[in-house]
Amino acid sequence: IPVDEFDLVIFGGTGDLARRKILPGLFRRFISNQMPTGSRIIGAARSDMDTEGYRQMVREAIAEFGGEESKDLKCLERFVAQLHYIQVDAKGTAGWDELHALIRFEVINAFYFSVAPSLFGDLAERLHNYKIADDDSRVVVEKPFGRDLETAKELNAILAEHFGESQIYRIDHYLGKETVQNLMAVRFGNMLFEPLWNNHYVDHIQITVAETVGVGGRGTYYDKSGAMRDMVQNHLMQLLCLIAMESPSVFDADAVRDEKLKVIRALQPIDPHHIVRGQYDATKTEPSYREDAENPRSHTESFVALRCEIANWRWAGVPFYLRTGKKLKARSSEIIVVFKDIGHSIFPGDEKRHRNILSIQLQPNEGMQLQVTIKEPGPGGMRLIDVPLDMTFAEALGPDAEDSTDAYERLIMDVIRGNQTLFMRGDEVEAAWAWTDPLIEGWQARGDVPKLYEQGSSGPEDALMLMHREGRRWHEIKE
Ligand code: BG6
Repeated sequence: IPVDEFDLVIFGGTGDLARRKILPGLFRRFISNQMPTGSRIIGAARSDMDTEGYRQMVREAIAEFGGEESKDLKCLERFVAQLHYIQVDAKGTAGWDELHALIRFEVINAFYFSVAPSLFGDLAERLHNYKIADDDSRVVVEKPFGRDLETAKELNAILAEHFGESQIYRIDHYLGKETVQNLMAVRFGNMLFEPLWNNHYVDHIQITVAETVGVGGRGTYYDKSGAMRDMVQNHLMQLLCLIAMESPSVFDADAVRDEKLKVIRALQPIDPHHIVRGQYDATKTEPSYREDAENPRSHTESFVALRCEIANWRWAGVPFYLRTGKKLKARSSEIIVVFKDIGHSIFPGDEKRHRNILSIQLQPNEGMQLQVTIKEPGPGGMRLIDVPLDMTFAEALGPDAEDSTDAYERLIMDVIRGNQTLFMRGDEVEAAWAWTDPLIEGWQARGDVPKLYEQGSSGPEDALMLMHREGRRWHEIKE
């Protein structure tokens, strides 16, 4: 769907996220002719720089992070010609009159707060007082959206002073990923799965987001956060919601977000035995988590695995196992839906407890497999084997169908379109913190120390035990 002409102001326009994700993403949209002529991107930051200097910074950022497309220099020049820069003081008066003069009120305008949350209030207030934003303007805010329920409520209140909820776009970039959206298509576009998608047929569900990177470079932020706040409260929670929610009656922002909210609110408190926290250890050549975080006594987790339950009619009694961690054996995000064993086998000698398993790979490769049981070919009688029905998308749809759209560019374009479906609503974020806070407070009160795990492994042994002691096991982490 084409978008209308816009002015997009990026506060923090010289920062890391702008250079790595936002600007390269916008450039890719520009190359594919999806940025309307005349649209402008206005970098706003503290640095003393002029528009020419900003254009040069963006050329370099795109050369570094823009991938193959960045080689199209002619296009790059046309793109940077649409960029402007304004030096603003978020806490003072400098730059705001200039920004007011530059903004065009006859086109869509959006303000991306790619800055520390402590500045959200100052920016929102100035946008309002200098009459730069109006009732149609959109503001985009990044995670971390608070570090607990209280701070999230404060941020929501600060934004609500100047903007209505329909103007606020809280980014969780996982919602912009192609396969994450595909989860909804698979669930609500097929007859096959939905009748089985409940506690009568599903034994358990696993959600894994494994990373190979460590926290080197962003240790200061990460050490105050940890895997629970950095990944579970937002990204894994969103995956859990999309897997577990009821069907919305229509695919629109509030209908989808209402259903997600119900899932979060139905999450049960977790027994401390059902949470395992880990920290990666040093190897002969690689530093430990504590060295990366520059905090020799850190008790922050770089890995967390937990077992939770959703108390509603659909899911009562079905365990959901979630895990995520840094420096694991592969970069792999997947959701595994394990159906119950068949109740009775009619085949003599067939002792295996056959079960169907639906695996949904989110990254790096996208695809789905459904494990089904069939007869082993050949004359050996009714011997059964489990084989995957492979639905790897690139194979099914051909290489041309591969979509390289990055989560950020997709989400930014949704902001311009005014579509909030893939953004978190204020109450959703608060509900997610309301569930996470007691877990974090619990382990802090107990003085829990994360278990060390080997780099390149699947995390601490205890995380495997979380499932083993219930007669289940994690799907292997592999690319
Ligand atoms: C970010 C986290 O939100 O998501 C990072 O702060 C994490 O710690 C990243 O590495 C993972 O995103 P992706 O898209 O690489 O899976």
